[in-house]
Order: sequence, then C-alpha cells, then structure tokens
Amino acid sequence: MRTLIADITKKSGEKVELFGWVAVRRDHGKLIFIDLRDRSGICQVVFIGKDKELYEKASKLRSEWVVKITGQVNARPEKLVNPNLATGAFEVLAEGLEILNEATTPPFDLSTDGKEVGEEIRMKYRYVDLRRERMQNNIRNRDKVIAHMRDFLRGKEFIEVETPVLSKSTPEGARDYLVPSRLYPGKFYALPQSPQQYKQLLMAAGMERYFQVARCFRDEDTRGDRQPEFTQLDMEMSFVDENDVMGVVEEMLIDMVKTLYPHKKIQQIPFPRITYKDAMEKYGNDRPDIRENKDDPDLLAFCWVVDFPFFEKTDNAGWTFTHNPFSSPKPEHREWLMEKKNIGEILTTQYDIVLNGFEVGGGSIRNHQPEALKRVFEIMGFAEERIYRNFGHMLEALGSGAPPHGGIAPGVDRLIMILQNEPNIREVMAFPKTGDGRDLMMEAPSDVSADQLKELGIEFKKKK
Ligand code: AMO
Repeated sequence: MRTLIADITKKSGEKVELFGWVAVRRDHGKLIFIDLRDRSGICQVVFIGKDKELYEKASKLRSEWVVKITGQVNARPEKLVNPNLATGAFEVLAEGLEILNEATTPPFDLSTDGKEVGEEIRMKYRYVDLRRERMQNNIRNRDKVIAHMRDFLRGKEFIEVETPVLSKSTPEGARDYLVPSRLYPGKFYALPQSPQQYKQLLMAAGMERYFQVARCFRDEDTRGDRQPEFTQLDMEMSFVDENDVMGVVEEMLIDMVKTLYPHKKIQQIPFPRITYKDAMEKYGNDRPDIRENKDDPDLLAFCWVVDFPFFEKTDNAGWTFTHNPFSSPKPEHREWLMEKKNIGEILTTQYDIVLNGFEVGGGSIRNHQPEALKRVFEIMGFAEERIYRNFGHMLEALGSGAPPHGGIAPGVDRLIMILQNEPNIREVMAFPKTGDGRDLMMEAPSDVSADQLKELGIEFKKKK
C-alpha cells in the first residue's frame, strides 16, 4: 500500500512503498542518494552498493523520472538530520526500485522558486513548472480558497448555478471574444465578459441567492493583474441593499483569512469605506492602497470604495456608464435618472472592494424596474430599437416580476495573488496566457483547417 512521503515520519522502522518523482540524485561512491518527491513532500532515499542489481538500476535514475520505491524507514543519526526538510530526521533505505516512467531532461531547475527562469519557457513547459514547490502551494491554496468560498456561501443559503459560456455580446466595457455559429452563418455567440445578465435573470427566476465560480472572457490587453480569461466569484442576492451584499462578502473574506491565512493581519475591521471623491482627492486613484506599512507582506488592507458617478462623458460629448449599466442609482438620485437630469451628478450604488491597492471586486444594487434600466440606455443615446434589440430580454425579465436585487463579483485570481504574495495573477493560474495573449504550451491561438472555416462560412481576404 502506498505511503505518502510526509507520513514516513510516523513509520520509523517500518517497510513502506513510495511513489513519486526523482528530484535529485547524488552519487557518493558506494552510496546513491535520491530526493524523492510526491504531492506531500520530499524525503531522502538511500541505495547501498550491497545489492548490486538495485544499485545499478538506481545509478541510472535522472531528475523527474517517476518511480516506485520499497524500503525501510530509518531514523537518521542526530548529526545527519536535515533541518530544512520536514522528513529530515528520517530516510528510506531502498530495497526495491521500479521505474514507472523515464523523463526528458527538465527544461529548468525545479528546486528553486523559478523566479530566475524566463517566463516563456516556464509557460511552454507549464506542466513541469507546476511541479515546483511554490507553484504547488499556489495551486493547492487556490483550491482551498475556492472551497472556502463555496462552503461559506452554501452555509448562507446561496446555491451555485452554472450559466452559459456561449452567449450574447454584452456591454461590460471590454471587447468580446466572438464564436462563429455554424448553423447560422454570419451570426456569432460571444463569450461572457461576466455572467452579469444571467445572474440577474436568475433573480427574476426566484433563486434569491446565487453564486458561481465563473470564467469570464475579455479581449483586452493583458497586464500583471489582468488576463483575457479569468475567474470571478460571481454573486447575486434578492431583497437586499448595499450593506447586505457588502456584509456577506466582508464576512466571507475575514473568515477566509482567519481560517486559511491565520498569520496574515487584516488592517481594519470592519473594512473602511471611502467615497470615490475622497479616494481621488487623497490617493489620486479609485483603488487606494491604504496599508500603514507597505513593507509587511502579511498585512491586508481592505477597503470599500463607494459613491461613484454613474455616468461619464464620452469623447463625442455623449454619456456612458462608468462601471455597470445594470446598476441602480443611489435611491436619492433615482428621480434624476428617471427624468434624465443632473446626469453628471447621479451617483451609482456601485461598491468596489480594494485590497492593498488592487481592485479585487465590484458590484452594485441593480435597476430591477424595466423603466429605470431603459433610462440608462436612453441617456447613453441608444435608440428605442437598439435598446430592445440588445436588452429586450432583460427588460422583459425585469417586467415579469423581478425582485429588487444586487450582487458583486470578487476577482478570484487577484485575491489569491495577494494572499499568496505573488507579483502577478499568472503565478496563481494553472495555465495562464502570456502577456501577448498566447498559450505557449498548446500553441493557441492556432490555424484551423480550411474545412473548418468552410463549414463556418468564413473566408479571409488576402491582405493587400
Ligand atoms: P468587474 O468588471 O469590476 O465587475 O469585475 C469584477 C472583478 O473581476 C476582476 N477582474 C479581472 N481579473 C483578472 N483579469 C481581468 N481581465 C479582470 N477583469 C476584472 C477584478 C474585478 O474587480 N459583472 C460585474 C460584477 C457585478 O457587478 O456583480 C463585473 O464583472 O477583481
């Protein structure tokens, strides 16, 4: 039966079967040492020259070969204890070795944190890169964070509902990824920039408390904290006001940090609230880094930014939304919206959550009455026909008896990046895209066959 490497510390004197990867092999004349690695850790295995056949087999081992080793766990003499290894007080004296798979020479060293390795090569061989301890920690802790979110929200009577990825183009401020339709040549699906409309439709559908660990797609230039596809913890609630939504998220984040990152300190609880105006005046931006001490990697300074203007002027002197067209104005400004007056002064119910200078989430209370939503698009200069063509389904759903509702969507990648003290979100995603939007491992985007294009009715014009 398999023993995990971390558990050899409980099996001194016993025979064990270990499975894993050879991290390093060291030859010391009559002795061969290997560091064996599995998901639980690393231990030292010793081969002695006495068993010639076994010794010769061990001498062939190379880094990243996959092996099964049987042997006996022995306590190491005190002066040979390795204090840098959790299993360092023990080693395994090998009695059997089975090579399960050989491996090509690894493209880079896996014993380091990998920060010295070029990112392109790490991306190309991501499955090897992910074996290093730092990346294992990031991906495993990401799983814990997401599991915590799910458990916490289910405990508050939220249900997770999956919404379509093949959808319709929605205005969330970024460019859509389009997917051509085979059955309807010339028509396109769009990948959702967020499940915004679906989650509101779920409120119309009486779900009351929804969440989803949702993949979102935005065709925009990547940055350290921005990827073309990323994950949101998308949430929506019925019969709530801003404080209810902000309260649930705040409680979840505090509980998450206390449970999963107990060594980290939250600077201020409850999270302070700053108006957009104050943030701009005091910090010059709307995602203020309010940390009292920026040298402390374990300080988490959350804050809420509220009272954003609803609309801003476009280049051609029209109006567009600043955050989310589906938001409702602050109740005291509802009349202005309905009467389309004082447009520049209308404040939205939008609330952003900011952590150490990064926007890690945003949401709002929505316009749940169709007339109010219609006004937003009218202010943006949409003609009646266009409003119905683009948003007819939303107006109908709101008119079908939609409850008052609101929600939020924390950005999962950004949150984990900060919790894991990583400099960018690529480090906490298993298979991110490069800065220029490529998947170097799969070589995407890629050409497709002429047949595929023909089936979709797509032809490319030659560039002149
Ligand atoms: P918003 O567009 O503000 O709101 O997105 C919510 C959060 O998602 C994260 N985020 C990103 N993370 C990585 N890469 C990106 N390209 C990226 N874009 C956004 C940020 C951001 O705060 N539908 C609304 C939410 C709502 O109102 O409920 C929305 O998508 O952390």
